[in-house]
Amino acid sequence: MIKYLTAGESHGKCLTGILEGMPAGLALSEEDIAIDLRRRQQGYGRSDRMKIEQDIAHILSGVRHGKTLGSPITLQIENKDWVNWQDKMSITPLTDESRIEKLTRPRPGHADLAGAIKYQHEDIRNVIERASARETAMRVALGAVCRKFFGVFGIQVVSHVINIGGVEAKNLAADLSVDEISARGNSSGLRCLDCDSEVAMIAKIDQAMANKDTLGGIFEVIIEGLPVGVGSYVHGDRRLDGILAQAMLSIHAMKAVGIGLGENSAHLFGSELHDRLLPNHETTMKRPTNNAGGIEGGMSNGERIRLRVAMKPLSTIGKPMDSVDLKTGKSSPALSERSDVCAVPAACVVGEAMALLAMMNPFLEKYGGDSMVEIHAHLKSSPGLPWA
Ligand SMILES: Cc1cc2nc3c(=O)[nH]c(=O)nc-3n(C[C@H](O)[C@H](O)[C@H](O)COP(=O)(O)O)c2cc1C
Repeated sequence: MIKYLTAGESHGKCLTGILEGMPAGLALSEEDIAIDLRRRQQGYGRSDRMKIEQDIAHILSGVRHGKTLGSPITLQIENKDWVNWQDKMSITPLTDESRIEKLTRPRPGHADLAGAIKYQHEDIRNVIERASARETAMRVALGAVCRKFFGVFGIQVVSHVINIGGVEAKNLAADLSVDEISARGNSSGLRCLDCDSEVAMIAKIDQAMANKDTLGGIFEVIIEGLPVGVGSYVHGDRRLDGILAQAMLSIHAMKAVGIGLGENSAHLFGSELHDRLLPNHETTMKRPTNNAGGIEGGMSNGERIRLRVAMKPLSTIGKPMDSVDLKTGKSSPALSERSDVCAVPAACVVGEAMALLAMMNPFLEKYGGDSMVEIHAHLKSSPGLPWA
């Protein structure tokens, strides 16, 4: 079974991640991970931080001569910006702490206030350094290792943006292969497949920038190639839909997840919603629609898995909202610092990584083994219909 941990502050020396349970014999290089890290750093509306950080994950353990060993894989990503923060983020006490201004004006919508009370921090910096989504760089790196694993079995995870600040794109993904979705997403500044809507989305981001405001949006994560029966109906914590939804909501600023038609399923008659089964000579049966989004009874049903994930607008706002200075108890504008205006395209890539990480355990539960050789054998001997 897979376990992972990340550590590191946003402006600390580095981010570290440990992935435990990856089977032995998977070919893995730092370049495999770099591809996804680069994708996470792109997107119109990101802050200048992305120009400073050119994320590279170094593999520190768990790989020898290009193949995983079955032992824990340790990754490290250096924070290039740390050189500018050595005093503010010093591990050892400073001789004169009064030189560092304490942050005491919490941002509505961020972890600042609840975090300061929970951990009894007088300086909100102690909260925001870890609450920051900089941590998602390591999730993307760990997810890239899982992508390499699933790729061996022909399982792919891609994503695309379908809404920015209320500007909804045509969802063209249904008519495209996952390779086409990936290529078109990678070549778009907003990871959007619909060029006309992309222009309107950019205009909306420009409007937010001009107003010193922020925007959220909606993206879709697509999983293709997962065999039937990953996940289970027998217990709630084994349901694939629940596992994937938790993974999406574990990402900073994600507020809703829909599977297939999601919330819209509630508006239809059962006979309109459910995907009919038709006989098919090659695959025994086929579904003409995929409203279920690839999951029935908490298990993959062999169709494309589709997750629609909603991200709220970011809470660091250039024109700060009303807040209270915790030191004085007086009304005061919330703190503001360098921040993204819109991070939905980056969040897409984080969503892919979380889907990849979350699928590992249900997949290994069904086909697991200590080595890639063993997993291949389990997949090959997996039975189909019991009547065949
Ligand atoms: C890829 C990504 C980038 C983000 N960048 C910012 C940012 O620059 N400024 C900001 O205020 N929030 C940013 N966020 C969102 C905050 O991290 C998040 O709102 C905060 O941790 C509070 O968590 P919550 O929104 O889930 O309540 C980002 C989130 C993601 C996924």
